[in-house]
Amino acid sequence: MVLIRKIFAIVAPIWVASFALTGVSLAEDNARGRALYDLCAQCHGGEAQGTELYLAPAIAGLDEWYIVSQLTVFRSGARGMNWQDVGGMRMHPMSLWLQNDEDIQAVSSYVAGMEKVNPPTVVEGGNLAQGKALYATCAACHGKAGEGNEGMNSPPLSHMSDWYLVSTLEKFKAGIRGSNPANPNAVMMRGLSNMLADDQAIKDVVSYISTFR
Ligand code: HEC
Ligand code: HEC
Repeated sequence: MVLIRKIFAIVAPIWVASFALTGVSLAEDNARGRALYDLCAQCHGGEAQGTELYLAPAIAGLDEWYIVSQLTVFRSGARGMNWQDVGGMRMHPMSLWLQNDEDIQAVSSYVAGMEKVNPPTVVEGGNLAQGKALYATCAACHGKAGEGNEGMNSPPLSHMSDWYLVSTLEKFKAGIRGSNPANPNAVMMRGLSNMLADDQAIKDVVSYISTFR
């Protein structure tokens, strides 16, 4: 016992020190992320709750891997370079403020750590029963409750702004998002959007997704 206590006495301070060091470097990461987020807040809002007027969706608490992937494709021009994509064209230049992969990582982990929001429901006229039936296919990738699935590169949908879900599905269907071969995940989702026959089907499925909050 004495020996164990002696070993503990030697090891414990090292543990404490190493936790303290990790703590410092995390705080520095977050400081960088928070500083970078100042710019983002102008459109996405202080709590990343989204601003419909600027076409900027809620992004608070989105999965880090998905934020990283989207900032990367915005920055490379694989998303947001179609002139009909008003929102995407607005976001593309913003992504260029992120100087390198470290910046993308820092701001992504900051946004992912923000508390999820429940954006207001603004889409009207969706049929929940129809939407539920349509969503059965979507669930295979996006999860039963819209929680997303990193293994399938499929983002969570549960806390997104409903107007953004509608405009995004319309853009996929029209090939305004998802026609650049440099963005294969979006190309795949573009194909899937065609199972939604028309604007009513889009409203139906989005209204159902809004029940996941
Ligand atoms: C000038 C306004 C503006 C600023 C500033 C801005 N964004 Fe955006 N952002 C948008 C718009 C508009 C969209 C929607 C694009 C679309 O409709 O496809 C968007 C989309 C996104 C998306 C994709 C969301 C999704 O679900 O696919 C992410 C992630 C994002 N922004 C993160 C950021 C970050 C991080 C910053 C700061 C470095 C930032 N934005 C700054 C306007 C802005
Ligand atoms: C085979 C898997 C799969 C199925 C099935 C699928 N999706 Fe997707 N979906 C994806 C992937 C992968 C992405 C990411 C695209 C990207 O990175 O741009 C995506 C992206 C999306 C987006 C954009 C989210 C954002 O934040 O910008 C929406 C909205 C969406 N899907 C809705 C649906 C709906 C509604 C259905 C059913 C009608 C559906 N998806 C079916 C794989 C799938």
